[in-house]
Amino acid sequence: MAVIGIFDSGSGGLSVYREIVKVLPRESYVYFADNAFCPYGEKLASFISERAHAITDFLLSKGADVIVLACNTATAAAIADLRRDYPGVPFVGMEPAVKPAALGTRSGVIGVLATAGTLKGSKYLSTRGLYEDNVKIEEHVGEGFVELVEKGILEGPEAEKTVRASLEPLLRRNADTIVLGCTHYPFLRGTIEKIAGDGVRVIDPAPAVARQTVKVLQESGKQTGQGVFSIELCSSGSPESLNRIFALL
Ligand code: DGL
Repeated sequence: MAVIGIFDSGSGGLSVYREIVKVLPRESYVYFADNAFCPYGEKLASFISERAHAITDFLLSKGADVIVLACNTATAAAIADLRRDYPGVPFVGMEPAVKPAALGTRSGVIGVLATAGTLKGSKYLSTRGLYEDNVKIEEHVGEGFVELVEKGILEGPEAEKTVRASLEPLLRRNADTIVLGCTHYPFLRGTIEKIAGDGVRVIDPAPAVARQTVKVLQESGKQTGQGVFSIELCSSGSPESLNRIFALL
């Protein structure tokens, strides 16, 4: 049985956890929400990297065989440092799914919703560089989205007003594909799809991250599929938001 460590700035990474547990239902999970420091979006990369190291130490102390950065912002800020500083530990990271969006768009315009930290990250910028000769890539920070999810406001007038303010600029520029580049945003997917309308495809990379987690565990020689499911939810701040989102799953 594998121990799968997952972390995010808050509850958003549970959108990744729910995909991983579909493909690895008989493992032991430790989920860490760094909600004492949430949101990460505008924080310095060096600060996020420090947090990621402390959380990695914690997850390793819990026996983690793999660590999933269920956070685009932390991946952008810290995964290279983590791989350098923990050479024996397998890490799985994530970044906005520009490739499938670029390959699937019909209007030739894709919209990326993510945090400021993710949009500045060198990995994202180089991926964008690979596709921007062929498609137009429009970006917007999902302003206030993380706060909505942490408060458990996933639909209704307040959620719609907040989502509309960041999504409409992308739709006005003719984006027919919206990439969810932050793991909190899939919890607002219903509201995003309602505002975007039928002709717009919304892409969440979490299923691909789940497949990558399986692959990384296989490569590290870890047996999976034989154990009993368990999960431990941990947080650096109040557990309220985490428990609320977990209850939804
Ligand atoms: N859920 C995170 C991400 O994927 C971080 C959001 C935040 O804390 O700003 O980027």
